[in-house]
Amino acid sequence: MPSVSMPAAERRSPESGRRQLDGVLGEGFSTPHAVIRQHRTQTVVLLDPKPIRHCFISNAANYRQAAARKRLMEPVLGESILTGEGDVSVRVRQQIATLFNRPALESYAAIIRAHSEDAVRGIADGVYGATALAARIALENLSLTLFSGALSGHVETLLSALDAVYDAMGGLPLVGEEGGIGYYPQIDRPARQAAGRKLREAVSEILAKRLGEAAQRGDLLDRLIGLRGEGGEATIEQMIGDVVTFLIAGHETTAATVAWALYLLSRHNGALERAAAEADRIADDGVPSSEWPDRLPFVLACVEETQRLYPPVPVITRQSVADDAIADIEIAGGSVVVVPVRLLHRLHRFWDEPERFQPERFLPGNRQRIERHSYLPFGLGPRMCIGAAFGNREAAIMLAVILRRFRPRYAGGREPVPLLKVVLRADNGIPIALERRPGR
Ligand code: HEM
Repeated sequence: MPSVSMPAAERRSPESGRRQLDGVLGEGFSTPHAVIRQHRTQTVVLLDPKPIRHCFISNAANYRQAAARKRLMEPVLGESILTGEGDVSVRVRQQIATLFNRPALESYAAIIRAHSEDAVRGIADGVYGATALAARIALENLSLTLFSGALSGHVETLLSALDAVYDAMGGLPLVGEEGGIGYYPQIDRPARQAAGRKLREAVSEILAKRLGEAAQRGDLLDRLIGLRGEGGEATIEQMIGDVVTFLIAGHETTAATVAWALYLLSRHNGALERAAAEADRIADDGVPSSEWPDRLPFVLACVEETQRLYPPVPVITRQSVADDAIADIEIAGGSVVVVPVRLLHRLHRFWDEPERFQPERFLPGNRQRIERHSYLPFGLGPRMCIGAAFGNREAAIMLAVILRRFRPRYAGGREPVPLLKVVLRADNGIPIALERRPGR
């Protein structure tokens, strides 16, 4: 199995590290793994299901959240489920699991559909930034489902604070236009600090209000408050961190999916017609909202194909604790393990015509042919996304509601450039012209 090791002369600055990654991860890169040494850090890039499975599932105990990622997120999240390790993360996941089971998801569908329809009814024909539009709808959906409306009066404040956080993240264009990874985001540290503070202040108001209420609702907010109290007093800071984590993880990823899907659909007329026809059919047939996601197989396939081409989390990283080896790959303790998900999703080894938007790949019957762990929009193993089903069902409902009313047309003068800004955002916010369909 070929491995790419970089020459010593290249072991210099972040810039040279970037060039190295550019070299091995740019267009055409297809070896199953690469080992890059820079200063004293070893970075192991994995692009093959077998070693990926090893690090994220079989030997997951040896791989923690990468220190660099923690440093990147801690000023915003503080100590939270995302930055916490082992016990903390297991405990949080267990306590909130029932909020993501099938009956819970079915009950959210009606809320998500009703609110998305309300929001879409309020939109006049015109050009909109799809990312911002989808983020506003998704944040309110999150509030109404998992937070019993507790975020609802704060949506504008939260959105503007979050925007400031993303702006401070710089957002390096992804290395190698088609599928490389942006590994060294340029961060404006003081701006990120200030934006993080603003966000945490807004969340602390929301928390203070809930802490002052006697009645328990059993929603995500109550559970995040409650579980940190077990086995030691929760600090307000920890609660804030958990809430901020769910705010970002729970709406920004879905919003990015919907925005990129609108872009791709507006470029592919056949898929657009088919998705809109499917949305019309279930709405006209009076299918109950709880059944919408299951009755929207093509829309859901568009969601999954969008996440293949534009995975909201385009890079997953870990750091090894002790030395490890997988076949011929030596992973020294302290190495950073990188899975460039976006690149993995575009490898010819796994995908036929990988650059083509082809939702049919994900339709029942075809989906089974996708190689296991070559498609990882939600990660894998014990830290895999807890909100995967929530997010995709929500994205399918949002898209169906939008497509039933509007025909989207991409209104940008040039193609959007994907940037890594916590999630994969477009540099131009994806301007989309929404035009009411006749009779809608
Ligand atoms: C549809 C869009 C979504 C995508 C593409 C996505 C993607 C991901 C990925 C890749 C991870 C794992 C990161 C890693 O291994 O380092 C993750 C973790 C996580 N996601 Fe999602 N996510 C989505 C929606 C959601 C939603 C809707 C929620 C909650 C309502 C959520 C909550 C979380 C949480 C709490 C974690 C951390 C889990 C842990 O560390 O144990 N996500 N997500």
